Amino acid sequence: MSNQYFRGINYSLGNEDTTLEYEICRQHRPKVAVAIAGSGGRSLPLLAFSDKLFAVDVSKEQLALTELRARTYQGLDHYSFLKFWGYPPFGEYDYGHYRKAMLNELPLSQQTRNYFHELFGPINYASILYSGKWERTFQILSKGLRLMMGREYGHILSFHSMEDQKAYYQHEFPMAQWKTVLFLLGNKSVFNALLYKGDFVKKSLTESYFQFYFDAFERLFTQQLARRSFFVNLCFFGKINHEDGNPLEVRALSFNEMKPRMQNLERDLVYINQDILGGLATITQQLGPSGVDFLSMSDVPSYFRGELEKNFLSKIRPSMRTGGLISVRYYLNVLEPDMDGFQDVTNQYRDLINRECVQMYRIKIYQAV
Ligand SMILES: C[S@@+](CC[C@H](N)C(=O)[O-])C[C@H]1O[C@@H](n2cnc3c(N)ncnc32)[C@H](O)[C@@H]1O
Repeated sequence: MSNQYFRGINYSLGNEDTTLEYEICRQHRPKVAVAIAGSGGRSLPLLAFSDKLFAVDVSKEQLALTELRARTYQGLDHYSFLKFWGYPPFGEYDYGHYRKAMLNELPLSQQTRNYFHELFGPINYASILYSGKWERTFQILSKGLRLMMGREYGHILSFHSMEDQKAYYQHEFPMAQWKTVLFLLGNKSVFNALLYKGDFVKKSLTESYFQFYFDAFERLFTQQLARRSFFVNLCFFGKINHEDGNPLEVRALSFNEMKPRMQNLERDLVYINQDILGGLATITQQLGPSGVDFLSMSDVPSYFRGELEKNFLSKIRPSMRTGGLISVRYYLNVLEPDMDGFQDVTNQYRDLINRECVQMYRIKIYQAV
């Protein structure tokens, strides 16, 4: 499957709440985990509870970003890590000197070091946290949101109690403006025009784009504190506006669970620049069949086409240990693959799925049997 869109750095902050896969790994302690690399934020946390992690991605730039993130987990303390990346409480534009010095000090491959000097140099080593094409698109969308929502646009993120937030959403939230935002900005033409250039994922869901996004945000506004969702922060402020909104992979508790496991990266972390099925074949050549305990596929299957939509699980089965788990985050295009060799165990993780703070995915957990 070739997709022009997946070139360069599309995801710098990322757009998934990895708490789901992180807690699955905490429960199951996989010896071997395989994950779509993405921004690194979705993949690296899995190393906290697995012996070995294979980070797979068709984009070599996403893998370079994952390498840089891994080296900052290894070499920096939590405070310095937040400063390097520009997560709250640190801003984006300070600390250019510090980032430049770290880029020269961190044990990166020369190719990766050069790549990031080329990326950071022209922006005076400002943070690249929001420089992914996806994040930049959401910064544009958030400007439209603020224009249409009026001065009180960010009030829904000011609450520390669910009761108060729900009361505000039900009685005072500017619903008419909000529906206008979703109607004008939450659709295929806008996403293709701003980002996917024709490669936006197809929609198999029957509900309209408006209804899909309205229901997803309603879950975010009525089932969890909006201020704790980095995704809601990005949509409303164009950035994470407060430390409360920092994603799992940079919170102190998980950072300190991850860091000890980032000390022998040459042994424990492998980068594979291939499509996921080719990558799994490479891993199976190295480990032998049935060597994978946990596979985190992100929303990649939603971009599959043709027979692959039906048979991708059966192609993966030989690589999976019996009892091993696969997480798939279907986005708009929800597949019903042949289930030979697998059972659907999604309901066992329903609570984690309901607490996921992006709520844009139809998540499935498959177990190899
Ligand atoms: C749609 S994105 C999801 C990114 C993710 N949401 C994040 O937060 O980082 C998928 C990621 O998978 C990569 N990708 C897309 N199709 C792939 C494939 N068939 N095999 C491996 N990687 C793929 C893209 O380069 C991108 O980094």
